Amino acid sequence: MELTGRKGHLYVTHQFMSEKNEVMHNLSSTQDETIHAALRRPVNHAYALTNLLGYEKLMDRTTDVFFQQLNTRFVAMGAEADLATWLQMYAFDVIGEITFSKRFGFLEAGRDIEDMLKHTAAHMEYLGTMGQLPDVDEYFRLRNWLARKFHKVNAIVAFSARHIAQHAQYVDPESPVDFISRFDAAVEKYPNVMTPAQVIDYAATNVSAGSDTTAIILREIIFRVMNDQQGRYKVLQNEIKDVLRARTSGDFDRYSDVSGLGVSGLVIE
Ligand code: HEM
Repeated sequence: MELTGRKGHLYVTHQFMSEKNEVMHNLSSTQDETIHAALRRPVNHAYALTNLLGYEKLMDRTTDVFFQQLNTRFVAMGAEADLATWLQMYAFDVIGEITFSKRFGFLEAGRDIEDMLKHTAAHMEYLGTMGQLPDVDEYFRLRNWLARKFHKVNAIVAFSARHIAQHAQYVDPESPVDFISRFDAAVEKYPNVMTPAQVIDYAATNVSAGSDTTAIILREIIFRVMNDQQGRYKVLQNEIKDVLRARTSGDFDRYSDVSGLGVSGLVIE
């Protein structure tokens, strides 16, 4: 097979229309490696390992709420939890924290907010189906003047745009720098490549690329571990208990910072 340096045509289905009705190329949608490199350069540092580790502190806040909610709603009540949905709400809220410094609030609400879980599922289904017919998608959704006239902004893009508009209120100077602050800095530094409209696109890519994927992986890990016949569940459980013991006995150096994690209410057998 000849390598062309271009991703396949199905990636047009990943293109969004901007609020100004322009087709936007983004990290995930562009087929062209040169465009990809140009789009990636200004935000490369935002996805670098050192900065990803910094986002962990932002995640911890959501992990804390996740455990609190599971404890009060299900453990304390002896009720069954739909863990698949809760893990997706957790993933969504984590993306909110690391991208906008704002937990979207799925966990506290205990339900879908603004139909985002529904929209994400529909979006993924659309990519899977129309990815097989990218020419049809390109013609009807992106290029056709009639479709463009009545075009509705993608719900994930609109949701991201709204949170960007409120970002200044969310930012806590004491907390690690989030993705939007890094994207905004890139607009200043690379004005020829980055525009404020593109910040919306980068943020929407995080929301759509990061929430469903993370939820699926978490579900899979938990499912596999719980159903493991080789005793790995016990091994993992002991490892977690070891961590919790170390944390509650103040031996924090062995693990990342755990202040703020809601482990104090957990009983270690
Ligand atoms: C376990 C969870 C995840 C999995 C399995 C996953 C998987 C992937 C895959 C396979 C791609 C390449 C897609 C393609 O080119 O067709 C990708 C790209 C991407 N993902 Fe993830 N992802 C995960 C989590 C995340 C998270 C949490 C974020 C955001 C915070 C994120 C943001 C992105 C972005 C921005 C791209 C485009 C990168 C580029 O092309 O330069 N992903 N992901």
